[in-house]
Amino acid sequence: MSKKRFNVIVAGATGAVGNQMITCLVERNFPVKSIRFLASGRSAGKKLGYKGDEVVVEELTEHSFKGADIAIFSAGGSTSQTFAPFAAKDGCVVVDNSSGWRMDPEVPLVVPEVNPHAIAQYTNKGIIANPNCSTIQMVVPLYPLHKKYGIKRIVVSTYQAVSGTGKEAVDELDNQTRAILNFKDFEKKVYPHTIAFNCLPHIDAFMENGYTKEEMKMVNETRKIMEDDTIGVTATTVRVPVFYGHSESINIETKSNISAAEVKSILEKAPGVKVVDDPQNNIYPMALEAAGHDGVFVGRIRNDESISNGINMWIVADNIRKGAATNAVQIAEILTREYL
Ligand code: A2P
Repeated sequence: MSKKRFNVIVAGATGAVGNQMITCLVERNFPVKSIRFLASGRSAGKKLGYKGDEVVVEELTEHSFKGADIAIFSAGGSTSQTFAPFAAKDGCVVVDNSSGWRMDPEVPLVVPEVNPHAIAQYTNKGIIANPNCSTIQMVVPLYPLHKKYGIKRIVVSTYQAVSGTGKEAVDELDNQTRAILNFKDFEKKVYPHTIAFNCLPHIDAFMENGYTKEEMKMVNETRKIMEDDTIGVTATTVRVPVFYGHSESINIETKSNISAAEVKSILEKAPGVKVVDDPQNNIYPMALEAAGHDGVFVGRIRNDESISNGINMWIVADNIRKGAATNAVQIAEILTREYL
């Protein structure tokens, strides 16, 4: 990495992902010259730790970006749609974690292990989009398989942690779990149903075609990142009472002959992937073990015996790290190293 240092903003710094972004910048020794933390007016004046100092949170406004080089956003889709263009106008490149810009044809949607070259298109609008958490962890191991075998179709079911919804959802699962175990009444504020001891086949809003927005994000974002509109993707996304770590059951059908043994050996060498697959000894990826790590963990790799060229696997990653903050900071690292 060059010796150059950058004026960095974290927008949405008080949120679950924003907080992790700050940690990732420190852990990865990002070349920071100065750092500022932005959030809504409700948080202005709060203090957040950074490398042993306290940084006062400022309200995000259209004037926040003068003098800044990079702003990493995780403040929701409408906030980033409103404010990212102000950052870009002031010459500050935005790496945005929301869904606000992902499908804009002029905005690159990037997973560094898959399409780092797309970052070059940041000059179109001054914005780079970070994909949906479930999509990121799916494409990291599937891309090397697509290159070798040509993926025809992906069938995915997700088991997604509440931290993906944000801080309030983490509190809701915690509160409901305690209340139920103590025979007390509880509130449902974040989800339409009880999330404790339950599974909700409902993530984001339902659309006219019967799928949820989350499911359609997995379809559309996968094709954009893998740069192949011919891949068929169908998804069922489910919220489960897990705090951190999304799990996915994935079935792929490929154009050419594929076998579980070959898949295992390809994935053992794939960037960002860790194969955890020794079922005879009860070893497979699990949310509790993936949480706190940056890898995408893959196991239960089996031939799909119902078709000629099919594989089943189980993929787990920390949704706040590789699914959000780490991926965004990795993008920012490439941006600073190769483009700014
Ligand atoms: P705040 O804490 O002031 O509400 P999470 O996804 O964990 O709920 O976090 C969302 C993040 O986005 C928080 O930092 C939140 O700030 C921030 N945020 C939400 N709405 C706005 C807004 N209108 N302007 C700036 N930041 C916002």
